[in-house]
Amino acid sequence: PPYLNSLAQGAGKLWFGTAADIPGTAEQTDPDYLRILENPGNFGEITPANIMKFMYTEPEQNVFNFTGGDYLLDLAERYGMRVRCHNLVWVSQLSPWVTDVNWTAEALTAVMKNHIQTLITHWGDRCYSWDVVNEALASDGNFSSSIWYDTIGPEYFFLAYQFAQEAVEQTGKDIKLYYNDYGLENPGVKTTAAYNLVKELQSRRIKIDGVGLESHFEVGATPSLAQQVAAKQGFLDLGIDVAITELDVRFTSAPYYTASGEATQAQNYYDSVASCIEVGRGCIGITVWDFDDAYSWVPSAFAGQGGADIYNDTLQRKPAFYAIGEAI
Ligand code: XIL
Repeated sequence: PPYLNSLAQGAGKLWFGTAADIPGTAEQTDPDYLRILENPGNFGEITPANIMKFMYTEPEQNVFNFTGGDYLLDLAERYGMRVRCHNLVWVSQLSPWVTDVNWTAEALTAVMKNHIQTLITHWGDRCYSWDVVNEALASDGNFSSSIWYDTIGPEYFFLAYQFAQEAVEQTGKDIKLYYNDYGLENPGVKTTAAYNLVKELQSRRIKIDGVGLESHFEVGATPSLAQQVAAKQGFLDLGIDVAITELDVRFTSAPYYTASGEATQAQNYYDSVASCIEVGRGCIGITVWDFDDAYSWVPSAFAGQGGADIYNDTLQRKPAFYAIGEAI
């Protein structure tokens, strides 16, 4: 079989990576899963699916837990893989001590600053990048409701990057700062809004190095190759990088393993990966949101949906796997 990360490295220094939901899960001790994960020919990057999120890293106010993140970083470093650290400021997976309090804007801004700066400082450049703000935008291009937006207002977004930049500068290391969201994979209202957020950061001289296009797709309903190229090119034209950060292509209903369904899914994966290759060096990596159907987040997030990954639930490679090899 093709070694997808080896191919990606050869194709122009991009990485092929995966999310991994470890430690604290069944896959942490699944030898068959780990045999695939722990092979740099397969993956050059890992994104922690959960363990660096707010509820795990700051379970009580100003009481930080780095144990899980350290485990993931140790694993990645053992195999020479980079880590996209994920994430600092998001609406979901917050600790109850954050969500169950009526904060003043000033007090919540201090909470946000402390969280951002403590994590960036602790892990330093063991993190290739940080997703500073995750999923800030609604489909109409306005900021979504979240405790951050509702309490602090739109300035929360710019403050988050300002705080992150301060911490990065303190470390003296090269740590990339990203915005990460879904729905930015094709041109449209939300994608334009993301361009405008990047431009606003740039006009304020605040650090922004790239945008992550999550790319959670449905089989047979993905943006075209041309649309995916155009959306990425729009970000590159702003002088920043893009990455495909959470690629999966789910079936919205069973069966998940028919020949025709898998052929369509393979074409969908192909188009997304090909769009990254086509825009050239500024698209710096492709990460799938875990690689096998048994450990995919999809069935628990979308009732009745599944089959989204490039290996099936018995870790056999699907046509999508080979299509990626073709695209790279
Ligand atoms: C998901 C995880 O995969 C799940 O295990 C968890 O229950 C919910 O979050 N967009 C993101 C990711 O940026 O952090 C989400 O990860 C998937 C959607």
